[in-house]
This record gives sequence, C-alpha cells and structure tokens, in this order.
Amino acid sequence: MSYSVKIRQSDVPLDVAMGDTILAAALAAGVPYPHGCQSGNCGACKSRLHAGEIEMSPYSDYALTDAEKGSGLVLACRAVPWSDCEVSWLEPDEVVAHPLRKLHCKVTALDRMTHDIIRARLSIKAGGPFNFTAGQYARVHFADLPPRDYSMANLPPDGNAGDGEIEFHIRAITGGGVSTFVQNDLKVGDDVRVVGPYGISYLRAKHTGPIVALAGGSGLAPVKSIVESALAAGAEQPIHMYFGVRAEQDVYLEDHFQNLAAKHDNFTFEIVLSEPDGDTERRTGFLVDIVGDDFTDLDGAKAYLAGPPIMVETCAGKLKDISVRNEDCHADAFYTEAEKAALNEAT
Ligand code: FES
Repeated sequence: MSYSVKIRQSDVPLDVAMGDTILAAALAAGVPYPHGCQSGNCGACKSRLHAGEIEMSPYSDYALTDAEKGSGLVLACRAVPWSDCEVSWLEPDEVVAHPLRKLHCKVTALDRMTHDIIRARLSIKAGGPFNFTAGQYARVHFADLPPRDYSMANLPPDGNAGDGEIEFHIRAITGGGVSTFVQNDLKVGDDVRVVGPYGISYLRAKHTGPIVALAGGSGLAPVKSIVESALAAGAEQPIHMYFGVRAEQDVYLEDHFQNLAAKHDNFTFEIVLSEPDGDTERRTGFLVDIVGDDFTDLDGAKAYLAGPPIMVETCAGKLKDISVRNEDCHADAFYTEAEKAALNEAT
C-alpha cells in the first residue's frame, strides 16, 4: 500500500509506502529534495502541504514552530502521508542546485589547529568537479567507518582559490569513533570518499545588506567559507564576524581573520571566550549576549550561524528579537551522533 505524492518542483509523482516519510521516498527516488539532518532538528526540509493528510513524527520546535505548522508548513523528513498529497519545498531566496558528486579524494595535509580540532585537506582524484556554495557540507567516509557530515571550509572552486581541493575542520568528540580515527589514525595519502554538496545554510550572494556571521568551535569552517566568499566577490556591506570558543586553547586561525580584517574595511572579526582560564583582554561571555550588546536593530541584515546547537538556538532567538527575519537567518547546528540519538529518543 502506498500513497501518491506530487512535489510541485518535480515532474515525477512519488510513491510513498505506508509509514515512510516524504523525504525518504523522494531521496530514494533520486529527487533532489532540500534536506539536512533527516531527523526533524534542522528545518532544512521545511515544505508546504497544499493538499492531503500527513502525520508528523516528533521534531524539535526549532525546526518548525507552532506558528509555521499552523500556517500549513511541514517537515518532509517527519511527514508520513495518510492520503495522496501535494507538497512543495520552500524555495530559498536563491536556489543553488549543484549536482550531487561522489568524489574519490586523497588526504594531502593534516594540521592540528587546536587540542581537539584537525584541519584535513583533501585533493579530488575522481568524480569532480565539485561545485558547492559557501556554507554547504558534504558526507565524508573515512576508511570503512560510518559517514559523517562536515562543512567545507574552503572557497568554492569558482572563488579565488581552492580548485580541486577540499578543507574540513574535524573536532574530536568524546566516544566518537570517526573523530577518534581522524585524530589518531588518518594519514596523508589515505583515500577518503566524499558525497555532496548538501545543506541550505549557504551564502546568499545577492544580498547587499549587513552580514552577521557567528561561529562556535568547528562551526568556524562554514562561516570561514561564507565570509571569505563574500569578501572575494567584492561584498561592500558591513560583515561582522564573531568566533565563540570556550577558552584560549580553542582559538585558531586568528591571524588569518585579522589579516582579512586589515585588508577589508567592511569586515570586523572578534573572538569571544565563554570560559576564560584567567584574566584576558578578549571579550568574554556567550555569543547570544555579545550580539545583544552590540546590536539593537539588524533589520535587513542576514545572519549565518554554525556551531553547537545551544549556541545556534540562543543566537537565532536573539537575532529574531532584533529584527532579523526568519528567512534571513541561515543556521547550521552541529549535532553529534550522540546528541541526535538523544533527541530522537526524547521526541
Ligand atoms: S532534514 Fe528535516 S528537519 Fe532536518
């Protein structure tokens, strides 16, 4: 038994087996449906239900608010049809549709950036060209371990640099088999498979209003790509970047961003420590409070956020309070596998 689901952006009617979600059926059928976490936590698969009945499996309020639900929006990754349906995914203000690539890569460099973050540089040996938009991520397969999602930290290939190379920032996670492998066993010359790009929290290059870029921990990777892409493209609007970390030992790439700030009058960069070890000349506190202190009205601005879920959720709430519209807030919360499992159990 199955239901027929018409997706407005696709010519192919979809058969969704009883109990399956619209997103799972679409991806299995090769329909490039926008998505991220696939577990009701990120909102990337937000869609409008035009006709029919669906039942939603549990999801986080952050991914879909009650008001959005009341206005007819659903999450395709949680939406199980109970009749034939018609849906459309929400069109971002600028749609990027890069072909999904399966790349064979080799590790060309491994650099320890902090006590728990490794920068891995890969060269693409087959399966390219790999086009993506700054802020997107890829699914990375190391050895025969389960895949993990990491954001590209480099400029897309049509930028000023980075053709044929991919850069990921990989943080060690307690009990994380993949990140432990990367920290201890990955070597230059190793083969890595990369599938992507994915994600919709990418740079909206046509936007000319101010940009606020908030990175927490290894969330620096996509924010780096976004900020550098905007500057490389000649963006002239103010770009305010904040990098929030716990303590001094977690700071990395400071010189890199200070150099960018020295070159571009419209770019500011600030490091914020939430738990400094002792006296410090840096700003301290949580990014949510720093944003509240520095801005009272960001109407017309776009915000890009990437980092731990608590940072992303609190900052997104604060940005809304100071007039950043929902559609102008592009957020990637990095859930660990353990966090995803806990959320799935709790919901
Ligand atoms: S993909 Fe549906 S909420 Fe993340």
